[in-house]
Amino acid sequence: MCGIVGYWGAKQASDVLVGGLRRLEYRGYDSAGVAVLTGGALHIRREVGKLQALADGLGRAPLEGSVGIGHTRWATHGRPTTYNAHPHTDASGRLVVVHNGIIENYMALKEKLQAAGHVFQSDTDSEVLAHLVGSCYGGDLPAAVRHALQQVEGTYAAAFLHQDHPDTIVGVRHGAPLVAGVGEQESFLASDVSALLDHTRSVVYLDDGNLVQIGPEGVRVSDLADNALPLEVHRVDWNPAAAEKAGFEHFMLKEIHEQPASLTNTLGGRLDQAANRIHLGDQRLTEDTLRGIRRVVVVACGTAYYAGLVGKYVLEELARLPVEVDVASEFRYRRPVLDPETLVIAISQSGETADTLAALREAKRLGCPTLGVINAIGSTMGREVDAVLALQSGPEISVASTKAYTSMVAAMLVLGVHLGQVRTTLSDADAAGLIRDLKHLPALVTKTLEMAPKVRALAEAFALSQNFLFLGRGINYPTALEGALKLKEISYIHAEAYAAGEMKHGPIALINEAMPVLAIATRSATYDKMVSNIQEARSRKGSAMGTVIAVATEGDIQIAHHVDRVLFVPDCPELLSPIINAIPLQLLAYDIARILGKDIDQPRNLAKSVTVE
Ligand code: G6P
Repeated sequence: MCGIVGYWGAKQASDVLVGGLRRLEYRGYDSAGVAVLTGGALHIRREVGKLQALADGLGRAPLEGSVGIGHTRWATHGRPTTYNAHPHTDASGRLVVVHNGIIENYMALKEKLQAAGHVFQSDTDSEVLAHLVGSCYGGDLPAAVRHALQQVEGTYAAAFLHQDHPDTIVGVRHGAPLVAGVGEQESFLASDVSALLDHTRSVVYLDDGNLVQIGPEGVRVSDLADNALPLEVHRVDWNPAAAEKAGFEHFMLKEIHEQPASLTNTLGGRLDQAANRIHLGDQRLTEDTLRGIRRVVVVACGTAYYAGLVGKYVLEELARLPVEVDVASEFRYRRPVLDPETLVIAISQSGETADTLAALREAKRLGCPTLGVINAIGSTMGREVDAVLALQSGPEISVASTKAYTSMVAAMLVLGVHLGQVRTTLSDADAAGLIRDLKHLPALVTKTLEMAPKVRALAEAFALSQNFLFLGRGINYPTALEGALKLKEISYIHAEAYAAGEMKHGPIALINEAMPVLAIATRSATYDKMVSNIQEARSRKGSAMGTVIAVATEGDIQIAHHVDRVLFVPDCPELLSPIINAIPLQLLAYDIARILGKDIDQPRNLAKSVTVE
């Protein structure tokens, strides 16, 4: 999984490429490289590690030239080394490729090429593309790419440049994202629009099977049989500054504090208090279809999966529909029982997660209506689902998801109210109450964020803990799971989450004075049960006490008798509490990781968007 940028124009290509790659670093960052046409010949620079290493190298020895391609890599085939970094060259050294995705039959292709005398420099599947296209090249680069791709199986987005063909960069898309940017006397290719925003707002979203050429004639899109396709240029309104840190030390902290705005955007236009209705914003999912649904299956990965688990509680409560939530990578390899009366909901920030996409395609194949709860709506998923519930939370750069998570939960609440009304499982009065509560949600989040200094103080006290246990019940059991995930992914502290009622069946054996327990004990139908679970954790006869930190509702004076530390959050209806309760857990993970000096926005071994299995 990687990021691709291509540039044809009059500016210094290496500046444009590195600038674009910076925006794409979230896609992976173990090495980076560029190839630039300089004086009629291709020059390549590659560096292991972060993009800055490449930028520094180019600063010391600039590459002059205004046509080039660049890449930031997240290793799939072959370790992160300089020789595995992209761009890769063909046998002649005159053709270069950058590639994102997986060439599934690369071994067979490689053996064939080796038998024909090709010598490979890397362990990657991507290098095979360069050699294959090179072997098909007879003076016409687009034709060579078309011809070569007939032999390729797998998923890819790739860009090719040949030094004898300086007027064209060729891009192809098959199962991995690629967009083209249209500028004045310049054009671009990139894995996503964020890489283009410093230069243009005019974007062409490519489809699978498209071949795109950029050069002096601008952008040309065709299919693999060379039939020209109409150019649909979209205008993107994102502000490039929105993708910057806006004064915060890290993107994660900025995104945590953006939540009142991102939630306002998610809810914007959807809560019609006057008519006491929800407007989902996509007419394609009709009320008739929704009335015909007998069951819901949610597929997602990572944080989005936990948002799906909250969604299960919400939809079951409000729409009285049975809901199953599946980790997409498991779902796709089972033989899931699906039918046209099952609504399949794919939840994804990026809309490109390979496992979620595969699960979605399986659902479509079996005839299910599909709904995408997606942030990047121009993404592959955004374009393949029957209807989209757009999160509208703006670009999320930090690998650890925060604002997209709360927007996903808010979107599930909006969907729950709508489904409940359409299916008449939710009374008008209850719907009106929930719509009012949702209207108030962004203000409540603003108020919750005021607790940041208190969370920081708590983080100071617990940053050196080796382990953490998170407990929750009911709709806040997923909150505990998400809190533990946040902590482990950015601070590398071992953290587990359990449904509090399960503690006595095993995890309680782990508890000693070195194991802080964070219990979500806000006002809820299971508050008393939670307090009993806390007591179990604190006082095992004959064993040391665990330190218990509670997230509790402001005004709960009882709780202090049962726990060692309390983080108070504003009172809110239980259905909305997963959003409010997520905030102290996001801040705690952030503060602990900062105290420990971790690389918060780009944690080790992780990537923002996982477009491979
Ligand atoms: C990666 C990210 C996670 C994210 C997951 C699903 O693992 O590191 O933060 O939750 O992918 O991503 P999606 O874009 O589908 O929400």
